[in-house]
Amino acid sequence: MRTRSLGPFGVEVLDVDASRLLEDDDLPGACLEALEEHGVLLFRELHADDAVQAAFGRRLGELVRFPAYANPEVMEISFDPANPNAEYFASNDYWHIDGAMDAIPAKAALLSARVLASEGGETEFASTYTAYDLLSDREKADYADLRVLHTFEAVQRRAYPEPTPEQLAEWASRKVREHPLVWSHASGRRSLVFGVTASHVIGTDSRELLDELEARATTPDRVLRHAWSVGDLVIWDNRGLVHRACPFDRTEPRRMHRTTLRGDEPIS
Ligand SMILES: [Fe+2]
Repeated sequence: MRTRSLGPFGVEVLDVDASRLLEDDDLPGACLEALEEHGVLLFRELHADDAVQAAFGRRLGELVRFPAYANPEVMEISFDPANPNAEYFASNDYWHIDGAMDAIPAKAALLSARVLASEGGETEFASTYTAYDLLSDREKADYADLRVLHTFEAVQRRAYPEPTPEQLAEWASRKVREHPLVWSHASGRRSLVFGVTASHVIGTDSRELLDELEARATTPDRVLRHAWSVGDLVIWDNRGLVHRACPFDRTEPRRMHRTTLRGDEPIS
């Protein structure tokens, strides 16, 4: 697999087309290895359709199923009112880890661009491994045992700052999830767990520290921004990155297709 660097992290894969995704026996292993090392893999204008995208996803791991969609292995991300999750995509423009409210978050995601807005709508990534590495030794010691509450309400409050009583009641009925701030991965690496789902540090009422750590990890020099062309496929390591969508006109019919690899490592 020939690659070139995309910036602070991430690589573009130069010599893979859609047919090689399904036919090259060495490719899945090489991709998983590159994902662990580089965080993001970009396949420019690959034009893999849903069947190919899902089939390649299955070669990389077990897929999460989304029964609400025509192809349950491919979630459509759009603000089309007919999209069953349109309301929940409203917070995609805040830094987040996919599935941070789950016991085990997704391992990785494959995202392809099908219809693009006339401007904006780029996807940005920042490394949560780097976020940990930026801490001083003193901070690493001080934060080692901190725990953070992640809530659905924290997410929805950003998109709907003046919720109706019905929205508040619905949010309060959702699960909450406690995670350590520092994720000690099976690989031996450490990352910080923050983002829009993080409500507050347990034992405080504040998300001040969470905001500060997020700001340090997402300065422009540490962010990989991908400006999409139709047909691009990006795979990212959801365990070591946060991501967000850049603003665009939400009345335009932008549509992205996501295939999600089931996680196998709890945040601990
Ligand atoms: Fe996401």
